[in-house]
Parts: sequence; structure tokens; C-alpha cells
Amino acid sequence: MFVDRRKSLDEVLDLKENRGLKRQLGWFDLMMLGVGGIIGTGIFVLTSVAANKAGPGMLYSFIISGFVCALTALIYAEIASMVPLSGAAYSYSYVALGEMLAWMVGWALILEYAIAAGAIAVGWSGYANGFLHSIHLGLPLFLTAGPADTITLADGTTSHGAFNLIACMISLLMTGLLISGTTKSARFTSVLVIIKIAALALFIVLALPKVQLSNFEPMLPNGWGTPLSGVGVLGAAASIFFAYVGFDAVATAAEETRNPNRNLPIGLIGSLAICTVFYLLIAYSAVGSIGAQPGAALSQSKEPLAFILRSLGFPKAGSLVGWAAILALPSVVLMMIFGQTRILYAMARDGLMPKIFLKIHESFQTPYIVTLVTGGVVSLFAAIFPVSMLADISNSGTLFAFFMVVLAVMVLRVTHPDRPRPFRAPFIWLVGPMALAGCTLLFISLGWDPTIKYFMIWSTIGLLGYFMVARRHSLIAITSKVSRAAEV
Ligand code: ALA
Repeated sequence: MFVDRRKSLDEVLDLKENRGLKRQLGWFDLMMLGVGGIIGTGIFVLTSVAANKAGPGMLYSFIISGFVCALTALIYAEIASMVPLSGAAYSYSYVALGEMLAWMVGWALILEYAIAAGAIAVGWSGYANGFLHSIHLGLPLFLTAGPADTITLADGTTSHGAFNLIACMISLLMTGLLISGTTKSARFTSVLVIIKIAALALFIVLALPKVQLSNFEPMLPNGWGTPLSGVGVLGAAASIFFAYVGFDAVATAAEETRNPNRNLPIGLIGSLAICTVFYLLIAYSAVGSIGAQPGAALSQSKEPLAFILRSLGFPKAGSLVGWAAILALPSVVLMMIFGQTRILYAMARDGLMPKIFLKIHESFQTPYIVTLVTGGVVSLFAAIFPVSMLADISNSGTLFAFFMVVLAVMVLRVTHPDRPRPFRAPFIWLVGPMALAGCTLLFISLGWDPTIKYFMIWSTIGLLGYFMVARRHSLIAITSKVSRAAEV
């Protein structure tokens, strides 16, 4: 019933062939793109959130999340090489699962991209505020966090912020850059990737030798965690999942990749593998060097990696890591807002979002209305909410989208068994169900209040929106009406 409105694979691939993007990216470019999208607020900021939820057991959380992402990456590689479209998860679902589920995926991707952009902006503000404070130009405390976030006052007590000014400003700035036509230049991305990797490597080199085994005791102060509780090792795994998200950006470059059969999986899985190795070393060094018990200093820091280095007696290195975050995180905000506009644009082209989103600016040649709307929403969220809440809500949307992509790949194996697959995910009937189970486990570990509750509210609004508005305006509905009329 719900899969009646589906795009045929041939139709979609035809469209793609007509567009003829130049195939110029190799595996190294893809890896740079992947690492550029992956390393961001997750590792630079959410390490403290993970410590608060799981204590030293956050090491296991990093492993669990990385494993679920590795399974999903294998499957992404298959569909990205088979249906190389830039709308990614939304486009794949349209082909395999039909319009309604594709709409739900597109709707969930708003959480993945727009809310993630807000989370990264808030994460960035932690480092930027730390820097301003260190040069005696710090903002009043109430302007360093939103009303839903907490601040620590000079006497050690906590209170609520009022407006996260610079998180809002960086989101607006990135929106302005996107409207003026800045996307991502490969060279610029590579420089930022090198800066991020250098900062993480510096952290590891300095913190690893300070590891003391006593800091791992007790290893699981909050246990493994129960479903819907949002704490313990699984709760932290569900939050730290944010640190791995971004490898799917590689899939969106499928149309521009040389020899996608070989290069796409290398790019997807390679970038994830590099980040996983760094993340595990960082988690081990962070926990082992200063301890990570819930409620202790690390778990409360808004700039944890810089904080650890300062606590270990390396103030200059701490500032350098802070600088790296300040320089590199805005590009991740930009990428996320860009990704969001691409998806909304693709949905508007299919008649599922307002047509005005397709409007292109005369001089800048960019879809400025959809960018403005997205940027406005991102800035507002960044001004109000804490990073941990935004990251968790974004994760709920991403996990839903990943789940649907895995499902889409399995469905296509049955419905289009002979279609050429430049890359085939190995052991799909084992890897697929494991990926589905992994995404479900992380999803239910996000915690009911507020994350899953908000996800449910968001999805209900989405479903109502689909049946009341979008379904009627969808291009497929309109074309089939026109062809029925022509037949009569
Ligand atoms: N993985 C990206 C980050 O951590 C989204 O910022």
C-alpha cells in the first residue's frame, strides 16, 4: 500500500546519466572528504558527555558505535555505487521503499543535518568561548550558553544560560558563506583535515604516556545501561555515535568518483577506519590520563581535549588543540547546512517540499531561500540548546535513516537481483540484519526523555504533513494524474 509510489531504478539512473558529472575523485580524495566530515564536535566535545554517562567504560562505547558504523558503511558502499545520487539516503529510499518512507527518511534527515549543524556550532562555541576567556575578552557567562544549557558560576554553583551568542553567530556566518556560493574546496578541506589530525595526534602523543591504570577503576560506574535510560555504556555509545557520523558524505560524491567499484568502499571504510583508530587512542588516553568518572572535572568540561592537556601541565598544547577546533569545526557546520539544503532541494524537486526552495539567487547562483530557512533554524537551535541534547536528537534521525538505507539495500537485493552492483556488501544476509540490530540498539539507548520523545513527536508531525500536504503535491501524484487524464 505504502510502496505504490516508487521511482523506477532505470528512470533514476537515466536522469543521472544525463547530468554527466565529471568523474575525477580518487580514493584519497574520498578519504579526505570522509575524515573531514567525521572529525568534529563529537570527538572534540562529546568526549566529556560520554564520560559523564559511562565513566571509563566509554572506551567500550566508542568500540560499539564504531562497529555499528562499520557495518552500515559496508552497506552504504553498495547502494552508493549502485544508485550514485547526491540525495543519498532519501533518494535510495525513494527507489527501494517508495515515496512515503522516503519522505520519512527525508524528514528524519532534517534532524541528522540541521540539528547536527546546531550541535557542532554549540560545540565550537565551547572552545571559542574558552579562547576569548583566556585572552580576557570573555563574554558575560549568560551569553555563552542557551537557556536550556547550564553554566558554572564563579562560586562553583550552576545556573542556566540565556543565549549562546557565538554559536548563533557562527551558524549565520556559515549560512551567509553558503548563500554567497562557498561550498567546499577540496584543497581547503585537505588543509583542515590535516589540522584536525595533527591536533588529535598531538593530544595522543602527550596524554598517552600519562595513562595510569588506576584511572580505569571503577570501569563501569553506571553499568552497561538499560534501554530508554540514556546512561551507562550503551547510553554513551548512542551519544558518541555522533562522532562517527559524516562518512555518509562520501556516498554523496559517488557520481564524481573514478572507478567507484574500488574507490567508494575504500573511501567510506578507510575514512571510518582512520577515525576509529584515532578515537580509540583518544578515549584511552583521556580516561587513563586524568580519569573519567561521571561528575568529575572531565565530564563537566565544554572543551575536554584542551582541558585534559592543560590539566596534565601542557597549557600551550591545550591552546593549540583549542585553536585547531576553532579553525576546523566551522567547516563541519558548513558541510551539514550544505547537506541539509541538498536534501530539501531534492525533496522540493520531487514536489514534497515547497517549490520556493528551488529558487536560485540571480547573482550567486545558489538556492538561497532554502539555505536561509535552514540557516535560520540552525542558528536558533544553536542559541538555545546544549550540545549533548542536539547531538542526541540528531543521532535519532541519523539512526533512523541508516536503518532505512540498510533495509533499502536488502530490498533491492530481492527486487533487483541482477542489477549490476559495482560493490557488493559481503554477507549481506548477516551484515544487514546485524546493522539493523545495531542501529536499533543505539536508537533505544538514546533515552526516552527528551530524545526519543522528540523524535516521535517530529515523526508524527512528518506523517501528518505527508498525508495532509506533501502527498497531494508530489510530482509522482501530479504526473500520474496527468497521464490518467491523457488516457481518458
Ligand atoms: N561527526 C561529526 C562531528 O563529530 C558530525 O562533528
